[in-house]
Amino acid sequence: MDYQNLIIEKKEGIALVTINRPKALNALNTRFFNEMDHFVGLVKDDKEIQIVIITGTGKAFVAGADISEMVDQSPEEGTAFSKLGQKTFSSLEKLKIPVIAAVNGFALGGGLELALGCDFRIASTKAKFGQPEVNLGMIPGYAGTQRLPRLLGMADALYLLMTADIINAEEALRIGLVQKVVEPEELMEEVFKIAKNIQSKGPEAIKKVKYVTRQGMKSSFEKGCELEAEYFGTQFKAEGEEGMKAFLEKRKPNW
Ligand code: CAA
Repeated sequence: MDYQNLIIEKKEGIALVTINRPKALNALNTRFFNEMDHFVGLVKDDKEIQIVIITGTGKAFVAGADISEMVDQSPEEGTAFSKLGQKTFSSLEKLKIPVIAAVNGFALGGGLELALGCDFRIASTKAKFGQPEVNLGMIPGYAGTQRLPRLLGMADALYLLMTADIINAEEALRIGLVQKVVEPEELMEEVFKIAKNIQSKGPEAIKKVKYVTRQGMKSSFEKGCELEAEYFGTQFKAEGEEGMKAFLEKRKPNW
């Protein structure tokens, strides 16, 4: 597929996805979702790729769903556009490998929802976050009403959703929306450093930790613990034997 909204670069097991529509502050249109779905379909079967990083070109990560595309939509088209985005971000979340958001600038509306579909978020001091849909007389459509309270708790989520306040990176760090804040010129270096650190761990362990954690959040504590115990067990033969032997023999594990 010929990408118009995405730049994909693959290096040393890491796929860097740059959303590249700077004239519209990387706003998300139907074409974007088709391209992202295509990319996710490819990376799912790409054994070489162990981590995905998502960022944006210019002063925005993503400034939201494309308002100029939405403005003429009928209610039915609106629901379809919402489901399209929900499906794409769920498929990102379901990737077995880690997906990291490198938030370089505005992450608003659908842009914040994209970042929420990633496993965690690293921000530049220039990043700004918000769910400004109510300013437009709208509500979030790409699972922001669902992921935000699960991540932040109900009150912080409803505060952002109801006030449409745009918060800076420091405030985002304080409420747990992002995990680290760095200077803009250090953002990509820092995110690649984090990715490389994750790459040095047991690759199966990383996938299982993502799966068990995410599945557990969707089910009861008891079910989550059951799944954890099962995967804890299967990890012994998969990687644990080697990892634990390496520790005792004071050498690096050979995964
Ligand atoms: N959709 C379409 N175009 C957008 C856009 C969006 N979400 N955000 C910005 N743009 C466009 C602007 O229209 C402008 O285009 P022109 O140059 O052709 O006029 C261009 O990007 C640059 O934007 P600004 O001139 O506004 O830049 P600024 O620096 O003055 O302001 C901003 C930046 C505060 C982010 C402002 O652009 C803004 O408020 N954008 C809209 C944010 C928003 O409301 N997002 C939520 C969208 S709804 C949504 O996402 C629903 C959902 O969950 C599914």
